[in-house]
Amino acid sequence: MTKLRALQANIVTLQVDAIVNAANSSLLGGGGVDGAIHRAAGPELLAECRTLGGCKTGDAKLTRGYRLPAKFVIHTVGPVWHSGKKGEPELLASCYRKSLTVASENGIKTIAFPSISTGVYGYPIELAAQIAVQTVSDTVQKLSKIDEVIFCCFSSNDLSIYESLLNKG
Ligand code: AR6
Repeated sequence: MTKLRALQANIVTLQVDAIVNAANSSLLGGGGVDGAIHRAAGPELLAECRTLGGCKTGDAKLTRGYRLPAKFVIHTVGPVWHSGKKGEPELLASCYRKSLTVASENGIKTIAFPSISTGVYGYPIELAAQIAVQTVSDTVQKLSKIDEVIFCCFSSNDLSIYESLLNKG
């Protein structure tokens, strides 16, 4: 059984096999969690990202973690929120599914996600957290190789939303 839990932290500090980056399709860095990950990992991360040719919304690509405690970074690109009528829920679910698939293909046992799309990209946290928890729960059952998934929340408000969803299951 895979353990799912939420905690409040700066994702760059977590000692897990992989952290997930909420990137943009260029994969060449940005603000928010993306900026924090690139700053903490060092310039080698950007150099590797330059070789990847970008990433489509809903897809995920793996790099090393360089100076991070995490061995790997899985870069995924969430949808920009446009009132939910442009396929945002399916694209967001795809970010979680593809990231976990990449993780399991690379022997990753412990992984931490930020709350993808809920910062600059404007996805409402309650809706996004529901998709995150549901998609991860469904996907880990099928993959069955991942020991622990952490939902890494930046604010206490986000943490309480994730915790109430996890406690329902
Ligand atoms: N640790 C954990 N969570 C964090 C951290 C951190 N160090 N920093 C921010 N968050 P965002 P998006 C939370 O805006 O909405 C970038 O410029 C934040 O509070 O980072 O997917 C990219 O390059 C929020 O809950 O990502 C893209 O252009 C969550 O991480 C764009 O932003 C996601 O917020 C992606 O936008």
